[in-house]
Amino acid sequence: MCATTSCSMKTYRAVRGTRDILPDEAPRWQLVEATVREHLHRYGFREIRTPVLEATELFARGVGGSTDIVRKEMYTFAAGEESVTLRPENTASVVRAFVEHSLHRTATQEYPERLYYIGPMFRHERPQKGRQRQFHQIGVEVLGSAAPLADAETLQMLWSWLGRLQIAGLQLVLNSVGDETCRPAFREALRAWLAPRLPQLCADCNRRYAENPLRVFDCKVEADRALLAEAPTLLDLLCGPCRAHFQAVQDLLRGFDLPFAVDARMVRGLDYYQRTVFEVTSSALGAQNAVLGGGRYDGLVEELGGPAVPGFGFALGIERLLLLLPEGQGAAPPLDVAVIALGPEGFAAAIGLTRRLREGGVSALMPLAERPLGAQIKRAERQGARFALFVGKDEVAEGRYGLKDLQTGEQRPAAFEEVLGAVTGRIHVG
Ligand code: HAM
Repeated sequence: MCATTSCSMKTYRAVRGTRDILPDEAPRWQLVEATVREHLHRYGFREIRTPVLEATELFARGVGGSTDIVRKEMYTFAAGEESVTLRPENTASVVRAFVEHSLHRTATQEYPERLYYIGPMFRHERPQKGRQRQFHQIGVEVLGSAAPLADAETLQMLWSWLGRLQIAGLQLVLNSVGDETCRPAFREALRAWLAPRLPQLCADCNRRYAENPLRVFDCKVEADRALLAEAPTLLDLLCGPCRAHFQAVQDLLRGFDLPFAVDARMVRGLDYYQRTVFEVTSSALGAQNAVLGGGRYDGLVEELGGPAVPGFGFALGIERLLLLLPEGQGAAPPLDVAVIALGPEGFAAAIGLTRRLREGGVSALMPLAERPLGAQIKRAERQGARFALFVGKDEVAEGRYGLKDLQTGEQRPAAFEEVLGAVTGRIHVG
């Protein structure tokens, strides 16, 4: 401890790329979380909570060893004999839990397991607007159905929730990345196209060419991107079943009146996708314009040691969504009653009254030490209190307190039960 006031105590800041969500911001988070929970319930989704720490190998296998996430962005450390990683995403973890707890026993094609999660993810990326090292996702995973309706219904659920939040200016962009039937031929076609252009491409792309050529589309180098805009696309080479699936998804989306665009060059930064992939973007977000992304991952459950169970899902970045949420959405709920304690008798009685109000289901605050009347009124206004309850010597003697409606300005004496009734809306004041 510092002995004098002049010595400088070391202070600490949040780790780069992480941030505090302060009480004034929390109501917007709560609004997003509460509406999505309620909305997902309508569609039969159930919550799953998996650990933030997983075995490193899970992501290397699940997300893919050649992805940027696994190659450079994971927070990995040794814990005893084990190598563990702070989850960079949650699909691999959910699938791990799905297999570990045999949830596939009850998931069918007709009635798949619909799961959702809300929580922090960690990626060691360069922080910028809309990009943190600890960020939060709301994600859903539908496990068990390969039907195009699983894709379309999940997207419809998503779109209607974004509509409820009044988020405007969003674009849904869709593509198909094929499956293990059509992708090998595409990989070779892409390699053949890339081979003569390798000297023009960056070192990373040269590595990708050898390891997994589809990953060249992750390249951030401007000159490479311009060149790659001319590369062949998988959409032209889709096999029959993948083509039919993609067509069916689009038809269903049109049936749901859901606007979308197809971008034949969209790939996603994770290896597990098959067939449908999509992103929802907003031009209001700047460089990090994807609010969410997802797709179908029919081989992942098997890849992680489970049976052949198809999957479809997406994850949304809460921080990015909040940048788009209209001002005024998600205001803090107002305080019901500011208890104004007057004099020592009033203060003593106010303690018990405040407790009884809270037990009656009402939010109530009083100062923890006696304060002048003016200071208490100011505080009540700052807290946006709906009512003030004046408790002084006379009120205590009468058993009736001064209940003031701070919206209308009306005030009247009221016994405790009347106060409770008025505040909870059962009785009107005045
Ligand atoms: P993802 O595209 O890597 O997909 O991430 C989904 C969303 O998380 C992004 O669209 C973005 O909003 C947000 N996000 C990602 N990285 C950051 C970051 N560094 N800072 C802020 N927000 C970020 C997945 O994670 C897949 N697991 C989605 C999925 C679920 N696919 C199937 N099921």
